[in-house]
Amino acid sequence: MTKEIKNICCIGAGYVGGPTMAVIAEKCPQYVVTVVDINAERISAWNDADLSKLPVYEPGLADIIAKQRGKNLFFSTDVDGAIEKAEMVFMSVNTPTKTYGEGKGMAADLKFIEKSARQIARVSTSDKIVIEKSTLPVRTAQAIKTILNAEKKEGVNFEILSNPEFLAEGTAIEDLRNADRMLIGGDIHTKSGKEAVDALVGVYSNWLPKERLLTTNVWSSELSKLTANAFLAQRVSSINAISALCEKTGANVEEVGRAIGADSRIGPKFLNASVGFGGSCFQKDILNLVYLCNYFGLPEVAEYWHQVIKLNDYQKKRFSHNIISTLFNTVSDKKISLLGWAFKKDTNDTRESAAIYIASDLIENQANVCVYDPKVSKEQILKDLAYLHELDNVKYAHLTEKTINDRVEIVSDPYLACSESHALAIMTEWDEFTTYDWNKIYNSVYKPAFVFDGRNIVDKEELENIGFDVFSVGR
Ligand code: UDX
Ligand code: ADP
Repeated sequence: MTKEIKNICCIGAGYVGGPTMAVIAEKCPQYVVTVVDINAERISAWNDADLSKLPVYEPGLADIIAKQRGKNLFFSTDVDGAIEKAEMVFMSVNTPTKTYGEGKGMAADLKFIEKSARQIARVSTSDKIVIEKSTLPVRTAQAIKTILNAEKKEGVNFEILSNPEFLAEGTAIEDLRNADRMLIGGDIHTKSGKEAVDALVGVYSNWLPKERLLTTNVWSSELSKLTANAFLAQRVSSINAISALCEKTGANVEEVGRAIGADSRIGPKFLNASVGFGGSCFQKDILNLVYLCNYFGLPEVAEYWHQVIKLNDYQKKRFSHNIISTLFNTVSDKKISLLGWAFKKDTNDTRESAAIYIASDLIENQANVCVYDPKVSKEQILKDLAYLHELDNVKYAHLTEKTINDRVEIVSDPYLACSESHALAIMTEWDEFTTYDWNKIYNSVYKPAFVFDGRNIVDKEELENIGFDVFSVGR
């Protein structure tokens, strides 16, 4: 295992694999980094000469791709070839919540992980360090190890490390270049395990100070990732819970957030009340944690964490209910404009975005929904709505192809999106929303002119002076 690292392979060219490998290539010119994916369309988008076509939008990413691609950073569909050449293989495949069978709706679906583990075992003719980058249930490393060892060729050895990614979308490049910490879980009690950990520490030491590289056992590393996301999501649900109380009492959730955040034990970050958290990680990881706790006979612990998700669902419902009740208890055939579709600003990722659920509620109430997002494609928005129907055709029975076609319009001009609208709802905190000519928008909408600010980003007073009725979260 003491081999020098020259070639790094990453299986999975998504939101984690793409940016992470781009930064490794940028910081370590001595390695050749190859990112592979079975999705040929995705790989060709990563290789597109037009950098606006990259499959992942992240500030700063296109610049790195422009500098490193073709030099020491390659994107390819030749998964076997890249695995075989590499001394180090990162697994960054998707691990969505299961949509079928045992653990449906709760457990992580590990079929993509299992497939790539089998592939690594099948093609490897030399020793490899295999690294779990995707967030995985605790003890997955053991399962990967069992598969690799059962299928490997004679004389080939594998070491499995857990190296969870803590980057947040929208700030991924900065998070990677200047990570608070890098967690590396491995079997430090065996010689080859220790060597593998040291090799990965060696990669990150190219740009991160030693004290930020934390080594733990594999299980702690896997559980730390789930726990970090659960704590972060819990903070958002906590402030969102208080936002509901603020609306009843006349307190202002921003003032409350500022007051409690000044306590150094609580800290000021992650206290923004919102329409509800989204993203590929929070819900999935908490459901996974809940599943694990139940599996290990800890129903009270499971229920404690499950409440974070339930509160988030409540917050989204509260938001759509507020729109409907404010619009005189009916949105039937009214145009409601959604500004933003991504789950947060500076990303084109829409997974679990609150906007999808708000749109669904509005469509169920027969509204016509018009969406504008500066980075999300029309196809993605339609896909997100159709996916809900696919997931649960009872709960989302109203999201038929016909209804989506009839009731959803997607436009690329925000002023057009707002024109002749009965209400505007801000779903994502894109900076550009604060710079619009709100007088012009006011003149183009039906009166009373309603704005539902799901991110508390517009200047409430200024809009009220123009004539809008503004509803914020927790104010
Ligand atoms: C998260 C974790 O932050 C990251 O460490 C992990 O690796 C992956 O999951 P991400 O999902 O990209 O990252 O975004 P994050 O910034 O955490 O936001 C998640 C959701 O919470 C977003 O919908 C965001 O808008 C919402 N949020 C966040 C709030 O509503 N209020 C806040 O104060 C903070
Ligand atoms: P994440 O946010 O975790 O990066 P994504 O869904 O954005 O998740 O990316 C995961 C990528 O992994 C997808 O592009 C998918 O095609 C790819 N993938 C899944 N299974 C395999 C596999 N066996 N071999 C190669 N790529 C895979």
